[in-house]
Amino acid sequence: MTTDPQSPDFTDKVAIVTGAAGGIGAALAEALLEAGARVVISDLDGDRLAETAGRLDGGSSTVVAVAGDASSDEVIAQMIAAATEHFGPVDLFFANAGIGDGSGLAATDAQWDLALNVNLLAHVRAARQLVPGWVERGSGYFVSTASAAGLLTQIGSATYTVSKHGAVGFAEWLAVTYGAQGVGVSCLCPMGVDTDLLRSGMSSNEGSGGAVAKAAVTNAGAVLAPRDVADQTLAAVAERRFLITPHAEVLEFARRKLSDHDRWIAGMQRFQSTLTESV
Ligand SMILES: NC(=O)c1ccc[n+]([C@@H]2O[C@H](COP(=O)([O-])OP(=O)(O)OC[C@H]3O[C@@H](n4cnc5c(N)ncnc54)[C@H](O)[C@@H]3O)[C@@H](O)[C@H]2O)c1
Repeated sequence: MTTDPQSPDFTDKVAIVTGAAGGIGAALAEALLEAGARVVISDLDGDRLAETAGRLDGGSSTVVAVAGDASSDEVIAQMIAAATEHFGPVDLFFANAGIGDGSGLAATDAQWDLALNVNLLAHVRAARQLVPGWVERGSGYFVSTASAAGLLTQIGSATYTVSKHGAVGFAEWLAVTYGAQGVGVSCLCPMGVDTDLLRSGMSSNEGSGGAVAKAAVTNAGAVLAPRDVADQTLAAVAERRFLITPHAEVLEFARRKLSDHDRWIAGMQRFQSTLTESV
């Protein structure tokens, strides 16, 4: 348990975290456990998930692993059933699983389907199963891991940009529609975080698009540690704050974008040309 008096308290809260075999998801689960929560972790990569569950649980019986696809209605139902059976009704859902690529106009329908399913529709499907119960009980909390790409754009990846904009839009809609009925919503929008997604996921396909996407993120600001991002996320949830921007400059970029869209696009075009020359 953490001894920092400023740490948020999630004692006996029941949380589900998707995409939690590593990266930001595993860090969120770790931070939740230290703050007193009991956690169901889920991931497509079952072997890595089991390892992470063993490390996080350490014999405390506060972690349960459910392997599977976060965008599957059936797997979401299994996560909720496991949480309810082992710990009690779900208080918090962290829709964190995500994928990135270096896709451009040549991205196939299959690539678009995958990105939209994992980065957006997984959130919709989880909310569809959880929010009615939260409204009935007057409490519940949904945390969307979107991205700064959902507020700005992801140079080098069309599918990531669009699916993350969708995630931000859905989180906003959820907050507006259900906030008055006790449902809290936060939306995490970081730039670079030191995880597999940034190290290799973005650049895994489609020629130089992925390398450009990775360079765009790493050249735009600091690359943060997953645990730092997780701690900032839990602090924001404890305050019931919607927008979480661990990179402060994202807010400034978003302000500039909204105040003069054409100027912002011209600036992004210049930034992109420096990147395509350098990769
Ligand atoms: N790393 C960054 O720079 C960064 C920046 C902004 C936002 N994000 C977002 O943070 C979230 C977490 O990513 P990360 O950076 O920790 O990367 P990561 O690759 O370490 O973690 C993502 C996890 O999601 C899992 N996953 C992928 N598809 C899945 C599916 N269909 N069902 C269940 N699990 C699935 C992967 O196996 C992996 O363990 C993602 O939504 C990502 O888009 C990351």
